Amino acid sequence: MRTQVAIIGGGPAGLLLSQLLNREGVETVVVERRSRAHVLSRIRAGVLEQGSVALLERAGVGRRLRTDGARHDGCYLSTAAGMFHVSFRDMVNGQVTVYGQTEVTKDLYAAQDALGAVHVHEAEDVIPHDITGERPYVTWRKNGRDQRLDCDWIAGCDGFHGICRPSIPEGVRREFERVYPFGWLGVLSETAPAADELIYANHPRGFALASMRNPHLSRYYIQVPAETDPRDWSDAAFWDELRCRLPGDVAEAMETGPSVEKSVAPLRSFVCEPMAHGRMFLAGDAAHIVPPTGAKGLNLALGDVHYLFEALRRWYRDGEAEGLERYSETALARVWAAMRFSWWMTSMLHRFPDQTDFDQRMQESELRQLITMPSARATMAQNYVGLPY
Ligand code: FAD
Ligand code: DHB
Repeated sequence: MRTQVAIIGGGPAGLLLSQLLNREGVETVVVERRSRAHVLSRIRAGVLEQGSVALLERAGVGRRLRTDGARHDGCYLSTAAGMFHVSFRDMVNGQVTVYGQTEVTKDLYAAQDALGAVHVHEAEDVIPHDITGERPYVTWRKNGRDQRLDCDWIAGCDGFHGICRPSIPEGVRREFERVYPFGWLGVLSETAPAADELIYANHPRGFALASMRNPHLSRYYIQVPAETDPRDWSDAAFWDELRCRLPGDVAEAMETGPSVEKSVAPLRSFVCEPMAHGRMFLAGDAAHIVPPTGAKGLNLALGDVHYLFEALRRWYRDGEAEGLERYSETALARVWAAMRFSWWMTSMLHRFPDQTDFDQRMQESELRQLITMPSARATMAQNYVGLPY
């Protein structure tokens, strides 16, 4: 089998890249390890930056996003001193759209089906070959049969545990990492959201986040020790702990109900440099991970796809290699900005196990700056709605 761009990984990054390229007449094959049903069952991110929305519109998957996505002009921060609002609209004339990653993936699959795009699911032992040569190819096994796909370029969109990043030799690759000593216990419930916008809470018992997917579906998170087993948390215990950490009036009015999903996500900052090697390019979680505070993970993946798509488009349309040569450098500049923002939000809002009184005062001081200084709120708002590509 032969194609122009072989895409390893059919998560949001791989699907969007395939969709954008196909619409430009560039051939792709998406090779994914899991079944489509499995990919669609993962409950993950919920907040889209303005640039992500524009990119999805450009890919022809904006219709449901426009009708079902909820525009948010700001968010709340809850502290010991009370709850305050950060207005993205007033600060930077910006907004975000609440629309689940599951829905984004569903829309992308539907659009890809309509274009007749080629996807291989349940591919075992996927391996990229000859990435520094002129003729790279990808192999895998399906239903006991070995398969080979020859291509011009390989896009490594296979997430944090994928095969593409480790295919860059150790001597070439440099990794930067911080693992946080806690995780997020997340619950999805078929209840009305606690507030009109998201609430990020700094509380002595730990961080909490009240988020949502739509008017009948809420998403909540609480900070828990990293090794927490979600089965140790009954729904009742979760709601009690969440209520403790949210402002009293919000907690009192909050609708609760049975959880429809409950899971623990670890928190980690991670960057791989470079994001390209020979004819292979990494995009999304394959190259970097942010802690979820600030909702940057999915958005960053889509941002990489923007740069990679533009570079590939220029190569196929104009024969111009500069975009591909500069892909890693261009993408990394934006990745590091989002790393800083996610690290800052995480540091300001969580309770660290070794937190001293001094650290505590630093957090309070950081939050005070946001309350009192419009320029601090403007910086937060600009980062939250997304830096320009
Ligand atoms: P992925 O979505 O991971 O997709 C990679 C795909 O590659 C997967 O389908 C995988 O099956 C496939 N794959 C892996 N290995 C191989 C292989 N060897 N061969 C072929 N295919 C392979 N972000 C937020 O902003 N907010 C959140 O609340 C949030 N919650 C999260 C919760 C969890 C549990 C996780 C894991 C992530 C969360 N994220 C969140 C991050 C966000 O979901 C990711 O940043 C986003 O999914 C990245 O998209 P991606 O396409 O790069 O990677
Ligand atoms: C969600 C997750 C986040 O990490 C965040 O900062 C905001 C919202 C969510 O899943 O809804």
